[in-house]
Amino acid sequence: MIYHGFRTPGFALMLVWRIPPSLFLRDTSLTTRVLITGAAGFLGSHLTDALLAEGHSVIGVDNLCTGSMENLKHLRSDPRFEFFEHDICLPFDFGKVDYVFNFASPASPEDYGRLGIETLYTGSAGTRNSLDVAHKYQAKFLHASTSECYGDPTVHPQAEDYWGNVNPIGPRSVYDEAKRFSEALVMAYHRYRKVDTRLVRIFNTYGPRLQSNDGRVISNFIVQALQGHDLTVYGNGSQTRSFCYVSDEVDGFLRLSRSAEHLPVNIGNPNEWTILDCAQAVLRVTDSESKIVFKSLPIDDPSQRQPDITRAKQLLGWEPKIDLETGLKLTLEYFRSSMPFSQLPEEKPESASSQAS
Ligand SMILES: NC(=O)c1ccc[n+]([C@@H]2O[C@H](COP(=O)([O-])OP(=O)(O)OC[C@H]3O[C@@H](n4cnc5c(N)ncnc54)[C@H](O)[C@@H]3O)[C@@H](O)[C@H]2O)c1
Repeated sequence: MIYHGFRTPGFALMLVWRIPPSLFLRDTSLTTRVLITGAAGFLGSHLTDALLAEGHSVIGVDNLCTGSMENLKHLRSDPRFEFFEHDICLPFDFGKVDYVFNFASPASPEDYGRLGIETLYTGSAGTRNSLDVAHKYQAKFLHASTSECYGDPTVHPQAEDYWGNVNPIGPRSVYDEAKRFSEALVMAYHRYRKVDTRLVRIFNTYGPRLQSNDGRVISNFIVQALQGHDLTVYGNGSQTRSFCYVSDEVDGFLRLSRSAEHLPVNIGNPNEWTILDCAQAVLRVTDSESKIVFKSLPIDDPSQRQPDITRAKQLLGWEPKIDLETGLKLTLEYFRSSMPFSQLPEEKPESASSQAS
């Protein structure tokens, strides 16, 4: 793969990192050409790896607002991978594709807190542009939605037919409502334009390539423990979350992508942990002597989050396999190997890292 610099295709300026022209002549008739928006992000990059490993060719599209080329650097010499730096809020067309995975969106409370308006546009205009590509090429479409659609749920655990309890004007609303709107848009393209769509409601996922400083609970705790800082728990730590290791999550995406299900499917680990238990698990696996300190709970922080995965089990034969301590050890290895101890970032003093996306 070589770097071609900038080019202007008429509607937008795009940075193109792609294969030499001769390789476009390759016979791809036996493979699927897949487009992934948000490919440079945590989940998008793992999904890219999984699809390449299955033999498909992948076009990654990302504006790098929260993602990083570091997550894709191991693919520079893979001729089946192309990358376009592009904001999906602007229309795009990178040629015929068979499948669109729409994963672009700021996802952590830190990121969507900083990029509120961009998050709303990505969920609306960006999702529309991605759907238009699928519609044009009659490609299948899978959209990354979120457990945040359930808001601060009054039903526990959350099944897909629960409609949620979302504050439409609170600080989290830029993300929650963007995702709820994008779900409505995906269903509308399915109903009115006959696009073959799928919706995955992703619950908290963790693993290698999580940003070290975006305020998500697992990365926050691991970085704080490695730095020898106190672990920050918001509230009294009794709020619960479920944490799914990334390989399990991606397995769920792939199974759903091959299914004929158009209604939302929860993919997440149903084992419920209090935030306090999670902090203690991180202290155990990191062998850290850090203490746990408590700060006030951010506004609209959900008190419980746990997926009901009955639908995923029945339709996809899916359930997670990696337990939290095993997943934490694998994630810890990544943080240790990717960041020398002395260069680990300073703790984020903010808020909302409460813990989710
Ligand atoms: N990780 C989780 O626990 C989780 C939970 C629920 C839902 N999700 C969803 O999964 C998807 C991926 O999340 P992630 O954790 O990998 O986050 P991430 O921030 O690591 O990745 C998102 C990627 O999208 C890109 N992006 C954002 N806006 C864009 C735009 N307008 N145009 C092009 N690229 C854009 C970012 O640069 C980034 O690379 C998101 O849609 C998120 O809402 C993730």
